[in-house]
Amino acid sequence: MSHDPAQMRPRRFSAQGPLTGRIRVPGDKSISHRSIMLGALAVGETRVTGLLEGEDVLSTAAAMRAMGATIERQANGEWLVAGVGVGGLLQPGTALDMGNSGTSTRLLMGLVATHPITACFVGDASLSKRPMGRVIDPLTQTGARFTSYPGGRLPLIVEGATTPVPLTYRLPVASAQVKSAILLAGLNTPGTTTVIEPVPTRDHSERMLRGFGADLSVELESDGTRIIRLAGEAELKPQTITVPGDPSSAAFFAVAALIVPGSDLIIENVGLNPTRAALFDVLRQMGGAIEELDRRDVGGEPVADLRVRASALTGIEVDPAVVPAMVDEFPVLFVAAAHARGRTVTRGLEELRVKESDRITVMRVALELAGANVTETEDGLIIEGTDGAPLPGTAPDARVATHLDHRIAMAMAVAGLASAQGVEVDDTRPIATSFPVFEALIATATGQA
Ligand code: S3P
Repeated sequence: MSHDPAQMRPRRFSAQGPLTGRIRVPGDKSISHRSIMLGALAVGETRVTGLLEGEDVLSTAAAMRAMGATIERQANGEWLVAGVGVGGLLQPGTALDMGNSGTSTRLLMGLVATHPITACFVGDASLSKRPMGRVIDPLTQTGARFTSYPGGRLPLIVEGATTPVPLTYRLPVASAQVKSAILLAGLNTPGTTTVIEPVPTRDHSERMLRGFGADLSVELESDGTRIIRLAGEAELKPQTITVPGDPSSAAFFAVAALIVPGSDLIIENVGLNPTRAALFDVLRQMGGAIEELDRRDVGGEPVADLRVRASALTGIEVDPAVVPAMVDEFPVLFVAAAHARGRTVTRGLEELRVKESDRITVMRVALELAGANVTETEDGLIIEGTDGAPLPGTAPDARVATHLDHRIAMAMAVAGLASAQGVEVDDTRPIATSFPVFEALIATATGQA
């Protein structure tokens, strides 16, 4: 995807009345990536239901196909993945195009690092700005070699180690992508790979590796540090996986229903893994009416339907300790805060500066353009809310710059639904990376479909 203005797809999102009825958000992006990757490494056929068919996951599928797996969508929507076995990845014939997807890139760099193959990774303008040193540094210790664009960016070439060495690595940054890259590298490495995680991050890799039969243990220290050990040269057994709905996608509709007067919406099948679901707790602390209905287990992950009703929100200080459990949800939390009574303070968000865009600055600029009162700090935003009044929205000649970042586009679309004159975003194309039916679901929930 390029910044070429001729290709951008702008749209003005305007108030369309309350969000009501029932919607179902697509499958979890993190779990979808991992189900394709681990399915491709198992011996035999893995079946995946509810896979997110977004561009990021399709980038992972294309890369795993290029390395030998057979991955097909059935007419009934189920995906079949015929794996090559751990150690069986083939050298791809051309560069692996990762599109906009940091998760595909970092996790696959881990896989390639311990296979005796060479792969070249390329991506779009947003991905090509993102730091890869955080995975290059530890993975180099396996014996793999990396040649990257200056600054540890894409394009980059990975020459996998022929006799990989197992890592023991303490994560210097709270990142599930770095943790997962090291664990995936450990699959085709003799001995035990150990990741020490001082701050817990999403644990889908650990859950799914165990589900596929890997020998993985997690030891919890008294200060909350997790020590994850994976026995290498694993043999993965094919699985039948049901992917729960993505809480990071549900987040946009939860906030929209809270801030658009008169809304009463049920969002079905939302994954509520505690390492992911902190946004809903924070919104409840702000006074949001979010009820969990029919809590259940889907594919080894906790799931519920969420009933969300329009609510008077109050600003809070968000505890920095919860940041990893809602790291992707801050753009839309900022939108909720802009409608609350009083001040919301967020801190500890430095990781947001290296996502698909610099989400601290980009959201400050976007919210200001829509008429909100926002102050940017080094590691967060301070937002003075409107006490329930709609934001003015963007002027007729102004557009929010989304910088190829799907979550900026969706967060500001939500702001538009609650605004006086609408919010125009400069490009809706990136939404398809994680939530291709977002605009269709807005139409459904507002009765326009
Ligand atoms: C992800 C981890 C997070 C998150 C991303 C998906 C994953 O990234 O922002 O959307 O699937 O492991 P970091 O590991 O960089 O925090």
